[in-house]
Amino acid sequence: MIYYFSGTGNSRFVAERLGSLLNDTLVEMTADAAVLCSHDDSLGIVFPVYAWGLPQIVTQFISKHKDALSNAHYLYTVMTCGDDMGYADNILSKALGRKLDATFSLQMPNTYVCLPGFDVDSKEVADAKVQSTLAKLPEVAESIRTEEKKTDVVRGAMPWMKTYVLRPLFNCFLVTDSYFRATQSCSLCKRCIRQCPLHNISMQNDRIVWNHENCTGCLRCYHQCPNRAIEFGSFTKNKGQKNDQYK
Ligand SMILES: Cc1cc2nc3c(=O)[nH]c(=O)nc-3n(C[C@H](O)[C@H](O)[C@H](O)COP(=O)(O)O)c2cc1C
Repeated sequence: MIYYFSGTGNSRFVAERLGSLLNDTLVEMTADAAVLCSHDDSLGIVFPVYAWGLPQIVTQFISKHKDALSNAHYLYTVMTCGDDMGYADNILSKALGRKLDATFSLQMPNTYVCLPGFDVDSKEVADAKVQSTLAKLPEVAESIRTEEKKTDVVRGAMPWMKTYVLRPLFNCFLVTDSYFRATQSCSLCKRCIRQCPLHNISMQNDRIVWNHENCTGCLRCYHQCPNRAIEFGSFTKNKGQKNDQYK
């Protein structure tokens, strides 16, 4: 079984290919997903790295299903990231209450655009990341099939600082829907409402509003808007949207 969360499609893209290489079943980490895992099972967790750690939706899923997930005889994770993952595996391992048997990070097109200096990748860079990940996936699948104990990750520079100092600050101040707004380019197509994985967007008085209840910061609303009508404060001004190709 492979449990996955994907904000904008990269991690689903990876989980689907891994699922077909391993002939394994995919289950999305939704509120009503059940986790059934016997001690003989091999179990995978696939998701995007957020601030050198886990998306909140993944943390919540793991804390709800911790006992069943950690029962797996072979437990591995594949994290997708734009660049590097810091010590995200340590955060996951702590949430699960057990060591991971194998950890892989794979670079995919960057989706983070909400701070100065962060933007989507050029088409060339995005394509190169996807090609390199596609080339690497058979090797990752083989390691998983043979239940190899392995850590094959890109931690990046100053990983401890990123995961244990910057990540808590990021989670405190920047994982919020308070700065989202739909601009005048919004055609009220309601795609963002339908697509939000946490059902946190609604329509009030003919306007798109974020409910301030539950936002994991995945930016699916931003990247999938057909009119590029969603902004996160002024941080996303003139920033790009992720190419649809990897959804
Ligand atoms: C809120 C947020 C935080 C992110 N933090 C990181 C990070 O710490 N390191 C990194 O390399 N990429 C980071 N990214 C980029 C994503 O991890 C990467 O693009 C991932 O493949 C997106 O997967 P998805 O399409 O399944 O959501 C971040 C993206 C978002 C939206």
